[in-house]
Amino acid sequence: MAKVKTQYSCNDCGGTSPKWVGQCPDCGAWNTLTEIAMVKSGASRWQGYAGAQDTSLMALPDITAVASKRLSTGLPELDQVLGGGVVEGSVILIGGDPGIGKSTLLLQALANVPDPTQALYVTGEESLQQVSLRAQRLGVGECPLRLLAETQVETIIALATAHKPKIMVIDSVQTVFTQTLQSAPGSVSQVRESAAHLVRFAKQTGISLYLVGHVNKDGAIAGPRVLEHMVDTVLYFEGEKDSRFRMVRAIKNRFGAVNELGIFAMTDKGLKGVSNPSAIFLSRNRFAAPGTIVMVTWEGSRPLLIEIQALVDDSHGIPRRVTVGYDHNRLALLLAVLSRHAGVMMHQMDVFLNVVGGVRILETGADLAILVAVISSYRNKVINQGCAFFGEIGLSGELRPVPGGQERIQEAAKHGFKKIIVPKANAPRNKLEGIEVIAVDSLSEAIAKLD
Ligand code: TYD
Ligand code: MG
Repeated sequence: MAKVKTQYSCNDCGGTSPKWVGQCPDCGAWNTLTEIAMVKSGASRWQGYAGAQDTSLMALPDITAVASKRLSTGLPELDQVLGGGVVEGSVILIGGDPGIGKSTLLLQALANVPDPTQALYVTGEESLQQVSLRAQRLGVGECPLRLLAETQVETIIALATAHKPKIMVIDSVQTVFTQTLQSAPGSVSQVRESAAHLVRFAKQTGISLYLVGHVNKDGAIAGPRVLEHMVDTVLYFEGEKDSRFRMVRAIKNRFGAVNELGIFAMTDKGLKGVSNPSAIFLSRNRFAAPGTIVMVTWEGSRPLLIEIQALVDDSHGIPRRVTVGYDHNRLALLLAVLSRHAGVMMHQMDVFLNVVGGVRILETGADLAILVAVISSYRNKVINQGCAFFGEIGLSGELRPVPGGQERIQEAAKHGFKKIIVPKANAPRNKLEGIEVIAVDSLSEAIAKLD
């Protein structure tokens, strides 16, 4: 008989403690520990080393590995985020706020595989009728895709073993449970155990598996981060729910570039890939105002033009630094460089920064553009709207090169920019048609070149 032992596990990070404590010893969150039952495996006695065989050790050149096949999802933007399609036997976790479009995206992806009879959509949240209604809205109501409304992992695996799908979706991992554990579906231990069963099943059978995960209020994938290391790829839905655009970012990918971004528009017929993302982030008739400029950022493996807006105003009290779509600590650092190396003092000013279009900027290549926007608002002077910017700023005020220089310049030229200010090391060797490249060494030099 297996022995049942209890432990306490944190609902936020999944860390465990043998006793109940008010604060999680791992992540420091308060009042998040809940009791879980641990099933001890029967064979716990030391068996010696006899089980290990010589054949488990192999020399690297002796291992024959064939590159895994990739299956297109039928959605080019999703393929791009995944690094060129779904790898056979890989497990993909898709996280995002409720209602952002996870179920819609996956239903579309399954309906578009070459042979939909080999795709299985397991829903634990909606009834089959609801899924069918959605499929009709998406225009795939006649697709012979297989559906299953079930939440018990053992049953799902048994049915999948019998039916042998090539690709399977579990929507969502918070609703499924395994009968080996007592705790309620959605609790950390259930999510972890159920996901572990499903991942093991996918790896043994070569099924590609999508797991849908909801996000808790802090933005971590609920159930929570415990799943991220078990899967091959973690995709994350970004963007405001009331905006028309949805962005899917790969934050971990064992089979492709990380930080790759796929951009979709939510229409009445589901999600549609946006083929020229730069165009949507630049409003067609941009309003030439102080504090508004365009920068070229790098998302995954392609350049993207994005508008940045800064507002600098007299502070009444403690100066505030408020950012939307950008790290506010990085802004504080940049403002310090600005005051020290360019003599523009911000210590009595409130600084507000907004990245237009709900994009989140994670790279340092945005530094120069952000400071130019701040200066423009501070001086109440419109910057030449035909000029774009990129470049990283160091603590001594120098301008550092960033990856993808050439491609960024070409993207700006493609969208009609006549001028671009870039770090010297990113300057192209040959002169480019249609765009004037101004290569500078430092922040102060860049400011001197503004017009
Ligand atoms: P859904 O995929 O159900 O979200 P999630 O699974 O992440 O919780 O997305 C539902 C939202 O998308 C809902 O607000 C309605 C909207 N939607 C459309 O705008 N057009 C469509 O064709 C569909 C199917 C949904
Ligand atoms: Mg859903």
